[in-house]
Amino acid sequence: MFRLIVVLIWSVAGGLSAESERTFPPGFKFGVGTSSYQIEGGWNADGKGESIWDRFTHQHPEKIEDRSTGDTACDSYHQWRRDVEMIKELGVDIYRFSIAWARIMPSGLSNRVNEKGIQYYNDLIDGLLQAGITPAVTLYHFDLPQRLEDLGGWLTPDIVQHFLDYANVAFENYGDRVQMWTTFNEPWYICESSYGTDGLAPALNFPGVADYVCGHNILKAHAEVVHLYREKYQTQQKGIIGISLDARWVEPASDSFDDLEASEWSLQFNMGWFGHPIFSAEGDYPQIMKDRIGNLSAEQGFKRSRLPSFTEAEIERIKGTSDFFGLNTYTLRLASKNDEQNSANFEIPSNDHDAGAVLTIDPEWPSADTDWIKIVPSGLKNLLNWVKKEFDNSPTWVTENGVGTAVGTVDLQRVQYYNGYLNAVLDAMEDGCDVRGYMAWSLMDNFEWRAGYTSKFGLFHVDFNDPNRKRYGKMSAKVYKRIIETRKIDESYLPQPDVVISEARIHSSFSLSIILGLFAVFLLSCLIFKV
Ligand code: GAL
Repeated sequence: MFRLIVVLIWSVAGGLSAESERTFPPGFKFGVGTSSYQIEGGWNADGKGESIWDRFTHQHPEKIEDRSTGDTACDSYHQWRRDVEMIKELGVDIYRFSIAWARIMPSGLSNRVNEKGIQYYNDLIDGLLQAGITPAVTLYHFDLPQRLEDLGGWLTPDIVQHFLDYANVAFENYGDRVQMWTTFNEPWYICESSYGTDGLAPALNFPGVADYVCGHNILKAHAEVVHLYREKYQTQQKGIIGISLDARWVEPASDSFDDLEASEWSLQFNMGWFGHPIFSAEGDYPQIMKDRIGNLSAEQGFKRSRLPSFTEAEIERIKGTSDFFGLNTYTLRLASKNDEQNSANFEIPSNDHDAGAVLTIDPEWPSADTDWIKIVPSGLKNLLNWVKKEFDNSPTWVTENGVGTAVGTVDLQRVQYYNGYLNAVLDAMEDGCDVRGYMAWSLMDNFEWRAGYTSKFGLFHVDFNDPNRKRYGKMSAKVYKRIIETRKIDESYLPQPDVVISEARIHSSFSLSIILGLFAVFLLSCLIFKV
């Protein structure tokens, strides 16, 4: 209720800025995304194998904020038809989802393909196509089959072949209908959080070493899969294939040379780590990574750099292996130079320490309810410009962008976030950035990794107390739909959701209408009596 009142006051007190005349060009595509573990549930249904997230949440409930699991999640394994309806309701062109590797290959290995798992994604893809929605499939979004983790996961070079076998099964079964493939979702986050720290499963926590080994194998696995697709499938299936890199804009803390350099280094150690080998003209890791990690490794007593090196042949094999640059971004940070090599801020060795930048937050930045997200849309514009400058204006898709808010359907914060960040996309396009599309994260509230169900990123609310996980459109769903329909951003458009839900209480839209009615009467009286 409080939120609703804030919305009303905000809309009267000057939030009603004029509708912008700028439009998204005709070819620009809109989409919405999810990932398998976050929504599917059915964790062991119909022969699905165990993934590292099944193991992690079952064995370490204490690591998840609300001690929850994705065992049922949004139950999309059973409720996917409703998902398709919601996607259609939004009017998006594209639905971005991921395949759970262990659902179609239970141990991750090539000896057994699970037909029921194959069927699930066939049904979903067909359902989307019937609804006029283009499926965009991510092969890997954090949920490695546990048996492959037992073999060493992304730390063993063998994983390249296993990933290739899996991709082959996916292309063979779905490639006739899937026109957009992403190999990896967020390799930086995978390697830093799963292997470098204990953020994501399997939480190895081996910074400055395991993360770089992981990155090396992921880059090779990505390249091999793209070559496979290009050589065996692309001509016939006519899709595009790429990768989604995660990034936060890094604003220099001041205009001193040191802080400008810290900002650049931080971007190179994040986006450059995976972007440079694939998208730059010369290939290989960014020079600054090779230099700094090499020098620091020597000082730290390592016999060789902690950053593995590619052969010339590997550099050539990885270079150019993407038809588009997928950018996932949510927020930004401030960077200043880290001069103190032994600063207590850093685990040593670590990617953070190697990057030589201290990252902080400007207290003036507005915070989202999910407090690691600071809402500063110019960060997205700056990132898109950085991609343009660094990677020769590669065709870019914003493959994830969104905000975590409190529970409920009156999500003004998300409305403002999308208005602001979509305006930033238009700004970047005016700067000449080749942005082809934008995919909102996420279709619905879901299992938000370590935060469990405490952080809500959805355009649709999900009732996690309902065995059928009933979904309800939020205010932001209507706003996103309107932007897609009109191809314009109208900041004064603040529609009411069909059902008002706040803090787990469901009110009918009837009570909302009464409140709106009373408020309108109040405003009218103010105008008539000039109060
Ligand atoms: C991304 C991730 C998504 C989602 C999002 C919001 O890093 O790819 O799965 O969780 O963050 O935090």
